[in-house]
Amino acid sequence: MITLRSAREIEAMRRSGKITAKVLSDLMAAAKAGMTTADIDALAENGIRELGGEPTFKGYRGYPASVCTSVNDRVVHGIPGGYTLREGDLLSIDLGTTLDGYVSDSAVTVPIGAVSESAQRLLDVTQQCLMLGIEQIRDGNHVGDIGYAVQQHAEANGYGVVRELVGHGVGTEMHEDPQVPNYGRRGSGVKLRSGMVLAVEPMITQGGHEVKILEDGWTVVTTDGKLAAHFEHTIALTGEGPKILTLREAGEHADAAKYRPREEAAA
Ligand code: MF3
Ligand code: CO
Repeated sequence: MITLRSAREIEAMRRSGKITAKVLSDLMAAAKAGMTTADIDALAENGIRELGGEPTFKGYRGYPASVCTSVNDRVVHGIPGGYTLREGDLLSIDLGTTLDGYVSDSAVTVPIGAVSESAQRLLDVTQQCLMLGIEQIRDGNHVGDIGYAVQQHAEANGYGVVRELVGHGVGTEMHEDPQVPNYGRRGSGVKLRSGMVLAVEPMITQGGHEVKILEDGWTVVTTDGKLAAHFEHTIALTGEGPKILTLREAGEHADAAKYRPREEAAA
């Protein structure tokens, strides 16, 4: 069942999204060689709570942390711990905030220090995939148009698109209908309507698209050990088109500003 959100609810989700965006951009700036992924998690939890939110992930289906930290061949759902970040690593950080009952969900992949040209290209193309997907969130388009746009761009660049995990509706629950695959056919799937709020989250690999789950029951890795990247935003479809509720002040794709929500006057 797909829940359409009122303008008031979308505003509440924007407030949640602002916390997610702020903490994520602070983490992007903080992540350095020598830190552990547990350090990143501690910063995230403190940051979310200081701004009045709750870390959505903590306790979700038994998940033990406030963020997912997925390094190099880890695609998503890496559990923070004792791993020490090294120069040249790619770190994906996935973060969710619940505020006043509304969830926002966003992820970025950041380079730790100087990374190889090929790693940087993977990051750039994955962020472009996210923006191309977001552009498809238009009244009358279909969910398949999002996946089509993501898949086209990833595969045109020689990359793989992970199939086992998908984007999703988001609202009072982190995972709501519909599912939002990063692959698909134009015009297929659910029709998009104003009031839908979606998390679009391309997971793109440098090699094959096959993945497996480690024994911890969470961490998703590429089967061939090659690099992966992950970018995610929470987007509302409004009468004025797609609005990115988790838009950051810094570290965004240049096109993202086009989808900045109109700010409501302070109450
Ligand atoms: N963005 C991720 C997702 O949509 C976050 C879930 S991690 C979990 O699946 F630990 F909370 F499950
Ligand atoms: Co998500």
